[in-house]
Amino acid sequence: MKYEGLSEEYTKLMHHAKEAMTRAYVPYSNFQVGAALLDNDGHVHFGCNVENAAYGPTNCAERTALFRAVADGKKAGQFQAIAVIGDTEGPISPCGVCRQVLVELCAPDMPVIMGNLHGQWSISTVSDILPGAFTPASLDNRER
Ligand code: THU
Repeated sequence: MKYEGLSEEYTKLMHHAKEAMTRAYVPYSNFQVGAALLDNDGHVHFGCNVENAAYGPTNCAERTALFRAVADGKKAGQFQAIAVIGDTEGPISPCGVCRQVLVELCAPDMPVIMGNLHGQWSISTVSDILPGAFTPASLDNRER
């Protein structure tokens, strides 16, 4: 799939996300999502959504990639970019919970590349997709 105008590096990341998408465990929604998180060493951490009969425990693809990377030893801020893909009409839009987790673990200016199976894509940053986020710094500014 060609992502017209997207850099080679981010196109590669999108293709990794597409591969991760095929691993989704989605017996309830049948809606596969894939994510690929590029770290500062150039390694790619895969993520897919993993659903649950109790619905609530469902984990989105983006969080799967982020939590996997943390479990594999990556620290907050040690990420370069994330690509996310789903079978959506336009580029997929990450859910609010995943946006909050991106804010927690990634630099505000880190690129978030969103795509679909038809070669459409858009790019934004972690801070731009969650304006007014509650951040780790918010905890330091409380009244004591
Ligand atoms: N989902 C993701 O994995 N990422 C998103 O950005 C949007 C939603 C998943 C959660 C659930 O398994 C399915 O898509 C339908 O909401």
